[in-house]
Amino acid sequence: MSLDNSRDEWSSIIRAIEDALPAYESTSEWISVGLAGPLRRRAVAFLRSHRREWVLDAGTGPGVSSRMLLEDSFEKIIGLDPSIHLLRFAGSRLGRRFCPIVGVAENLPLRPGSLGAVITCFSLRDVVSLDRSLDEFARATRRGGALAVVDIGKPDSTFWRALIGFYILHVMPVLARSAIRGKTPGNPFRMIIPTWKRLRTNKQLSDLIGQSFGPCALKSFLLGGLVVFEADRLSVWKDVLQ
Ligand SMILES: C[S@@+](CC[C@H](N)C(=O)[O-])C[C@H]1O[C@@H](n2cnc3c(N)ncnc32)[C@H](O)[C@@H]1O
Repeated sequence: MSLDNSRDEWSSIIRAIEDALPAYESTSEWISVGLAGPLRRRAVAFLRSHRREWVLDAGTGPGVSSRMLLEDSFEKIIGLDPSIHLLRFAGSRLGRRFCPIVGVAENLPLRPGSLGAVITCFSLRDVVSLDRSLDEFARATRRGGALAVVDIGKPDSTFWRALIGFYILHVMPVLARSAIRGKTPGNPFRMIIPTWKRLRTNKQLSDLIGQSFGPCALKSFLLGGLVVFEADRLSVWKDVLQ
């Protein structure tokens, strides 16, 4: 795929999420078999020791994970997203502890070491450059900080990958269609399909996070179809690897 195609696809993904807004949270919950919310809360709990520091919610979208952070008494949330429309929606609901910023994970408008933690839920698979985004998370997070990633997973085992692939390609769009029930035009959740196809396997992504950010624990759910990565930013991590 050329870079231009991938940029076209990226714009379509963002438009699809904007279109999905009226049914976004309920449909995400439905197609994740009720696990999207609990896994976001798990990621929030992992970052709890950083609740007094600046925490970046990268790809905040309608602000679902930011809302959970605020409910858990986190004090200062930066909600980053390329969509002004989604940020306005999130900002109108989340109050003064939520600071919306238009931008992309590949080029964070933040000083080195200015964050205590980063959370990114169902967004990392949408970025154009995974490597640059992870490097940016590491740059902007202070030593001793942490990163939590929640996303759809791609199992390493061929058998489970085929099964999850079947669910994403053939079952998920039908479930999404029935959950949307006329609340949005078309079926914006179909945009999950190309992003899942481009996704690295769970182990590959875990290794990549480990190399860019720091030691990473991979937790798998639903046969590896949903994943949480919990990583710590150690002070000398890159030096240890060399
Ligand atoms: C599926 S939504 C997830 C929203 C929310 N985090 C949640 O937990 O439901 C993915 C979000 O990632 C955003 N996004 C896409 N590319 C991005 C990038 N390069 N950097 C930051 N956010 C991006 C999209 O605009 C969208 O709001």
